Amino acid sequence: MKDEPDLLVGLDLGTTKIAVIVAEMDTHSGEAQIIGVGEAPSMGIRKGMIVNLEQATRSIQAAVEDAESMVGLGIDKVTVAFSGAETTSVRTKGMISLGRSARQVTLEDVDRIIEAAQSEIAVPVNRCILHTIPVEYTLDGHSGIDDPLDMTGVRLEVELQSIIVPSAVIQNVVNCVSKAGLEVSGLVMKPLASSLGCLSNEEAMAGVAVVDLGGGTTGVSVFSEGRPRRLSVIPVGGDHITNDLACVLRIPISRADALKKSVSLSPDSLGQNEKIEVESMGKTLSFSVREVVEVIACRLDELFSSLVENELKESGISMMPGGIVLTGGVSRLSGLDAYVSRLLDLPVRVAGPVDAGRMPPGMNSEEYSSGAGIIRYILEKERNPYRYMESDLPTEGGTSSFRARRGRVGVSSGNGRKKAGDGALKTVMDNIRKSVKDLF
Ligand SMILES: Nc1ncnc2c1ncn2[C@@H]1O[C@H](COP(=O)(O)OP(=O)(O)O)[C@@H](O)[C@H]1O
Ligand SMILES: [Mg+2]
Repeated sequence: MKDEPDLLVGLDLGTTKIAVIVAEMDTHSGEAQIIGVGEAPSMGIRKGMIVNLEQATRSIQAAVEDAESMVGLGIDKVTVAFSGAETTSVRTKGMISLGRSARQVTLEDVDRIIEAAQSEIAVPVNRCILHTIPVEYTLDGHSGIDDPLDMTGVRLEVELQSIIVPSAVIQNVVNCVSKAGLEVSGLVMKPLASSLGCLSNEEAMAGVAVVDLGGGTTGVSVFSEGRPRRLSVIPVGGDHITNDLACVLRIPISRADALKKSVSLSPDSLGQNEKIEVESMGKTLSFSVREVVEVIACRLDELFSSLVENELKESGISMMPGGIVLTGGVSRLSGLDAYVSRLLDLPVRVAGPVDAGRMPPGMNSEEYSSGAGIIRYILEKERNPYRYMESDLPTEGGTSSFRARRGRVGVSSGNGRKKAGDGALKTVMDNIRKSVKDLF
């Protein structure tokens, strides 16, 4: 009998749709090939938060069944991307001595220094660290070191980026996915997944901000020298534009959504008195293109000039030669790139998944960047377990089973690292354990 293929599955918990991306792993090359995408409308999730567990569970099951029927295989384990508001990024530094005379940096040293940097973080009650991301290492005063393992020196420093989320948000996500009959094999912040899904290496190295415009949320991630410097979620998205249109023009939500997708934000549109007709409650209403565009622009101005701009400032990254990369469903709004470029005075491009060519037609556009990015996230973590360290997950009963997951059986990690580095995450795990206990 032929062996079951080795599957990597990403579950993207969006506010508009739940997407399931299935990839097959080639254990020899360490590469993954996307073999199917499933989806279902997202119910029970508002502004990125689960508000109705039953509905959200059913949506997840429907999306997984859709993916299973597409690939003809059963799915039992998923890595989940979720938004969750109130995410904070905290930057800390750690330093260790390697001894009196210079020697090579070992895995134990890397664990030790990460632990040292983590001990500087005061995690608020009921919150926990989801991701621990080493931003850069410095060896004997030489900064910008990507990976210090086996390098020689006497003093090692690290700058660590930690993503802190409310423990209840994680707990609800894990409960919901477990109730849908799936094992959670990993969690990733949606803005991190979408940027890995749509950015080129050059852009990430140069300095760039990815703005993922979804239904109820907008994810912002700022990259510099290939590393994420800030990840955040703004609880405003395309649904707000739709609601604005529905309220101002007094039309049903479904009509407002279609109207939003039909107009262009080009400068000409603002001068256009051309009429658009909308059928509503048995009547034909007529609006000028300018009227519609003004409502959309009002919300976009608030989102970009105030909320997104603020996130860019907070990142501390002043040089962004890569400009802004827009992705997510709303990025398909005609003329949005030029509009945002004028607002923020930066180059802007719209990007879909880097792996679009390997995804099914119709399921490979901007809305699928975050889903496709989950597969890239899983692969990056396997290649270099120290790149995006993820704290282990709480289980439903509130008792946590924490393991530092480093690499998968059958896949050799790129740098041959075998050791887990469990010590490095001990502080994080203790913090999560404590905050999960506080919840129950
Ligand atoms: N062509 C389009 N023009 C404008 N908005 C669009 C278009 N296509 C989808 N959208 C909007 O994008 C949002 C959904 O984006 P998506 O990334 O799928 O959301 P999520 O990740 O939150 O599930 C909705 O508000 C939808 O109306
Ligand atoms: Mg999206």
